[in-house]
Amino acid sequence: MRFQHLKGALAEVWKWKNGDADAFDWSLAIKLVTGLEGTMGEERPDPLRSALKDTGFCDVHRENPLHPGVFRPFDTVISAFCLEGACFNQGRSTYVIAMRNMCTLLKPGGYLIFMTYIGVTYYVGMDGKEDPDNLRLDTDFVLKSLSKAGITVLETSEFKTPDRKTCKYSDVKSILYVVGRKA
Ligand SMILES: C[S@@+](CC[C@H](N)C(=O)[O-])C[C@H]1O[C@@H](n2cnc3c(N)ncnc32)[C@H](O)[C@@H]1O
Repeated sequence: MRFQHLKGALAEVWKWKNGDADAFDWSLAIKLVTGLEGTMGEERPDPLRSALKDTGFCDVHRENPLHPGVFRPFDTVISAFCLEGACFNQGRSTYVIAMRNMCTLLKPGGYLIFMTYIGVTYYVGMDGKEDPDNLRLDTDFVLKSLSKAGITVLETSEFKTPDRKTCKYSDVKSILYVVGRKA
């Protein structure tokens, strides 16, 4: 299952699944990943397409983020760079609640694979201006929010972003990857 907040993004996913001529071309990304996995040359887009069974709307600010959908709790949830966007400039208490809402989607013993930007104080808007973000995530706070949501952290890795004079998208300081398990 693939859930999304933006309906336009879901429409793009369906274009790709249906093999539409004007669908986004993921071949470069697939080549990169299969290169890293050592599975280059295998036919990947078709198995990937058929692995995607369905899509749905998601809003992490709801107690049931998949409302009005009702699903059995999932074995694994992957969330990449979404919570910080959903909670942009809404403060840390909103983030803690959104994290808890998202983690209700996991069954006990289920795995969470979570990726987030750390240290963003602003994003660069379409107009090129800096849009301040009061969330200002740090690793310790993210890990505590996961723990409050009932997640036992099994593994973390953090990658510092290169020092740069100007920021094109945001002043992100590092990328945090977490693998956790629901108690
Ligand atoms: C920076 S994109 C990340 C997209 C993708 N996961 C990736 O890694 O490239 C941020 C995502 O957060 C999602 N988002 C924004 N508000 C949300 C909300 N209230 N609930 C759930 N997702 C939300 C957007 O739909 C968007 O897909």
